[in-house]
Amino acid sequence: MESQTTYNYKVVRQFSIMTVVWGIVGMLVGVIIAAQLAFPNFPLWDGISFLSYGRLRPLHTNAVIFAFGGSALFATSYYVVQRTNQARLFGGPLAAFTFWGWQLIIVLAAVTLPLGITSGKEYAELEWPIDLLIAVVWVAYAIVFFGTIVKRKVSHIYVANWFFGAFILTIAVLHIVNSAFIPVTLTKGYSFYPGAIDAMVQWWYGHNAVGFFLTTAFLGMMYYFIPKQAERPVYSYRLSVVHFWALVSTYMWAGPHHLHYTALPDWAQSVGMLFSLILLAPSWGGMINGIMTLSGAWHKLRTDPVLKFLIVSLSFYGMSTFEGPMMSIKTVNALSHYTDWTVGHVHSGALGWVAMVSIGSLYYLIPRLFGKVQMYSMKLVELHFWIATIGVVLYIAAMWIAGVMQGLMWRAVNADGTLTYSFIESVERTYPFYYVRLLGGAMFLVGMLFMAYNTWKTVATGRAADADDAIPAPAAH
Ligand code: HEM
Ligand code: HEM
Repeated sequence: MESQTTYNYKVVRQFSIMTVVWGIVGMLVGVIIAAQLAFPNFPLWDGISFLSYGRLRPLHTNAVIFAFGGSALFATSYYVVQRTNQARLFGGPLAAFTFWGWQLIIVLAAVTLPLGITSGKEYAELEWPIDLLIAVVWVAYAIVFFGTIVKRKVSHIYVANWFFGAFILTIAVLHIVNSAFIPVTLTKGYSFYPGAIDAMVQWWYGHNAVGFFLTTAFLGMMYYFIPKQAERPVYSYRLSVVHFWALVSTYMWAGPHHLHYTALPDWAQSVGMLFSLILLAPSWGGMINGIMTLSGAWHKLRTDPVLKFLIVSLSFYGMSTFEGPMMSIKTVNALSHYTDWTVGHVHSGALGWVAMVSIGSLYYLIPRLFGKVQMYSMKLVELHFWIATIGVVLYIAAMWIAGVMQGLMWRAVNADGTLTYSFIESVERTYPFYYVRLLGGAMFLVGMLFMAYNTWKTVATGRAADADDAIPAPAAH
């Protein structure tokens, strides 16, 4: 028999467990801020600065994107790069350094943000000393990932690695450019860029954080775990390569759609809108490729809750990447911007796509990392799937209706040109939708608690497995 490669699964296990932990923490903070919007005068947070909405909101976004999403990406990319290249992670202790470094960054974020220490740049709120630490950890990540590809034992580089690789390279560039600060004190730095340029750099960063962190990398996950769970090859490998190049070359230019009707030059806004519209094509190409991978295995969807998570996540991906290009049209954006429609769009991508594809992938991964074939309770996985799906639908449907209602109320005018509604009237009318969002978010969180229990039982009854588990890498054609 061929000798088996021993992989570094320890770091994969660590990141996988922390994904569940940070998922619960980040979503709990999400539920708290959803409750704050629904019950602003509730005594628990009334007048306490570090529990105020303005401080907890960036804590939520950082925790769910970088702690939960980031840990899921570290775990899956380290697993996939080893399996598909049949090589142990490069760099020895460097992989452990990325784990502990990333956890330290998360803890520093969790301390500084509630204290009100922030750069004020959305999704890049952490102050400059933490930014430096992020840059160091990220470079280490790149060395481990690309070093493993260099020492691969197979000649072909499986497509999932292309998506992960583009994500690692792009995030490095985005982070370094957007975090150029002039330090003033240890906890305060000022942006290197002035006025409208700062805004443009910020949204070039912000949109590509969505494009590469929340999309490209998770597509890498999709290209490995869907074929694996469905036990089918990728529907069209050629389409996956076209998908990759079309996606990465288009995303870069779409950022200005966040700055419609601002001081940014009008032509730049139009370029952003145009590229956002073009983006629909590669996005849907990728979604179709993922869903069609089920060809010949559709029946599995009836019985396999892990596959349900993965395929439904792609449906939400398709939905949000249809909605995004529509919202980037200036006249549509004139209605949607500043309203809860944006928040609905964000969470159809973030909960429906990012969280669901991560959960599905982890349900595949966790048992294998602990020498098991499947999770401790598949019934609980099924229950998790339904409570999460209903939770997302409640969340986003409530925000869509609220958002369109707000947009229409704000622009309604009487015959004499005065506004029909005062702003506060639109807030009052939004309350019922905030209650529904709170319910949907709480359901999603409860699903995560099921996952934590199931993970706990799987780990407790399993053993740490480091050798090849004899499941072959997905067929490439
Ligand atoms: C239990 C689940 C969740 C709940 C209850 C929740 C709730 C919230 C709330 C109340 C806001 C503030 C909206 C506003 O300012 O009006 C928000 C913002 C945000 N959340 Fe979540 N969230 C959840 C999960 C997630 C996940 C998993 C992600 C990402 C992977 C995410 C990403 C974001 C982002 C990016 C924003 C900022 C949106 C914007 O600026 O338009 N959330 N969330
Ligand atoms: C073809 C793909 C997409 C396009 C063209 C697109 C376009 C847009 C547009 C036009 C906005 C509103 C900007 C504004 O009015 O301020 C927006 C906001 C946002 N989108 Fe998307 N979107 C896409 C996919 C996604 C996906 C898949 C996700 C999440 C996984 C996502 C996450 C976000 C976030 C977080 C924001 C809020 C940014 C903020 O203001 O803080 N988008 N997107």
